[in-house]
Amino acid sequence: TCSAGDSQTVVIGLAADSGCGKSTFMRRLTSVFGGAAEPPKGGNPDSNTLISDTTTVICLDDYHSLDRTGRKEKGVTALDPRANNFDLMYEQVKALKEGIPVDKPIYNHVTGLLDPPELIKPPKILVIEGLHPMFDPRVRDILDFSIYLDISNEVKFAWKIQRDMAERGHSLESIKASIEARKPDFDAYIDPQKQYADAVIEVLPTQLIPDDNEGKVLRVKLIMKEGVEFFSPVYLFDEGSTISWIPCGRKLTCSYPGIKFNYGPDSYYGHEVSVLEMDGQFDRLDELIYVESHLSNISTKFYGEVTQQMLKHADFPGSNNGTGLFQTIVGLKIRDLYEQLTASKAKTPVEATKA
Ligand code: ADP
Ligand code: G6P
Repeated sequence: TCSAGDSQTVVIGLAADSGCGKSTFMRRLTSVFGGAAEPPKGGNPDSNTLISDTTTVICLDDYHSLDRTGRKEKGVTALDPRANNFDLMYEQVKALKEGIPVDKPIYNHVTGLLDPPELIKPPKILVIEGLHPMFDPRVRDILDFSIYLDISNEVKFAWKIQRDMAERGHSLESIKASIEARKPDFDAYIDPQKQYADAVIEVLPTQLIPDDNEGKVLRVKLIMKEGVEFFSPVYLFDEGSTISWIPCGRKLTCSYPGIKFNYGPDSYYGHEVSVLEMDGQFDRLDELIYVESHLSNISTKFYGEVTQQMLKHADFPGSNNGTGLFQTIVGLKIRDLYEQLTASKAKTPVEATKA
């Protein structure tokens, strides 16, 4: 039988403000699942969807209920729930999870208009990425795992300048103004979602350089919720202890300002969490194997898999620091979660027959 109920689509939510590294993260994630995800063939060239053998990534901007003109007329930003159709989002994500294909709208980022819908078939793994994957409680409840990319204001500013000034020719003032204009809605509707995330990657300015304001060297925290089914947090040296580690020396080359790791238990929005932190950057990516060998519960399939993945995508932004390292590790944890989830679901019908 091939009824909808037999399907095993695992749904992952990835939340972040735009320009905060979601697409880079998605490229690392789909690579861990074996094979880069690409836009659907023969469809709308402005589709936001990415598809690989195992994974489909949909962009939640496609659930904008107001197009660019509509938002302007009503004076609401894309971050405002009133500009988004959560009923449709819920209906379609739920259908896909149950193995039913959907006709998903397309928000065209070039024209700012809603294009005719595209057919999305239920994949093994569905990633919903965007501004609001954990905003609506109905959508939140059907996520099997959720991630929030928390980029501090200082770093967000540095990245936006890099992209919008260098690549898009915007002025410093206009970038500042656009960040300021988005901030109230960001604080009201996007940021609060991090309390629901199973894993948060927080990106902060370094503490290794006094008064650093360049935003090049980063301090990155991987905050992992305890007690999540099929997800056991990564640890450094000894699970549950509090550790501070400077790996620089004979086995790891570090130039100024060096590298520092911290690990330990903490509390995050009232939840028990484990936090792994890396401040600084790698000089030589191949030496990452030394760090990898001291981490446990990283869900690799062979020794050195994290280092191999990082070397494979050395050209992606963040490959020399904690953003790339933790995104890669979260990718491996999601692969592990997927395998455990599908194995546990596969058992259910057998037990049902026995009863
Ligand atoms: P999004 O998909 O959320 O809009 P992208 O992955 O396209 O974000 O990244 C947007 C820009 O932010 C990139 O072009 C790059 O300049 C910068 N960026 C993203 N991730 C990192 C990182 N880990 N380190 C440094 N810069 C980054
Ligand atoms: C956010 C949304 C986009 C939107 C952009 C600009 O980043 O993710 O969908 O296009 O804001 O919004 P605007 O109203 O200026 O087109």
